[in-house]
Amino acid sequence: MIVSGHEETNVMTADWVTVISYKPFMIGIAIAPKRYTHKLIKQYKEFVVAVPTLEMLKDVWIAGTKSGPGKMKNMGITFIESKKVKIKSIKEAVANLECRVVDERDYGDHTFFVGEVVDYTYNKDAFEGGKPNMQCNFLAHVALNEFVTFEKETHKI
Ligand SMILES: Cc1cc2nc3c(=O)[nH]c(=O)nc-3n(C[C@H](O)[C@H](O)[C@H](O)COP(=O)(O)O)c2cc1C
Repeated sequence: MIVSGHEETNVMTADWVTVISYKPFMIGIAIAPKRYTHKLIKQYKEFVVAVPTLEMLKDVWIAGTKSGPGKMKNMGITFIESKKVKIKSIKEAVANLECRVVDERDYGDHTFFVGEVVDYTYNKDAFEGGKPNMQCNFLAHVALNEFVTFEKETHKI
């Protein structure tokens, strides 16, 4: 999920999120210009990437199907202060990556915003020994309204 805005806080669901550099830590997100989030990122040049869990599914769906901060009245997430950016983080998320926009470019019908991760917070139980704990119900999107969590076993090659 992408959190944006200063005085008014907005949140939208996004699949098209990727790490693009380790050092410095950078993340890219593809956001369509018609999203309210697009306007807020252009304005404040900051955003937070919040990693949701299965328990947040209802809110993930609302954030991904309704537009603008008004959707928040139907959602159950709690916003908390971030460490380095003025955008809020989400308390219930397993991780919040605080990003400052360092580049942006339009590709087709989306804008690719590149954010440098200037700080982050995360649930220590969800990242035991530096890798995701599969018991923590990380949410993954399959298609349209279908979501899954990761299976508990990993397969090593
Ligand atoms: C699972 C899911 C993934 C989505 N991924 C993206 C995405 O990567 N980029 C995008 O621009 N919109 C994406 N959307 C659509 C936006 O979340 C949706 O249009 C939302 O209402 C925008 O909110 P806003 O106008 O308040 O910013 C996705 C929606 C869902 C349900």
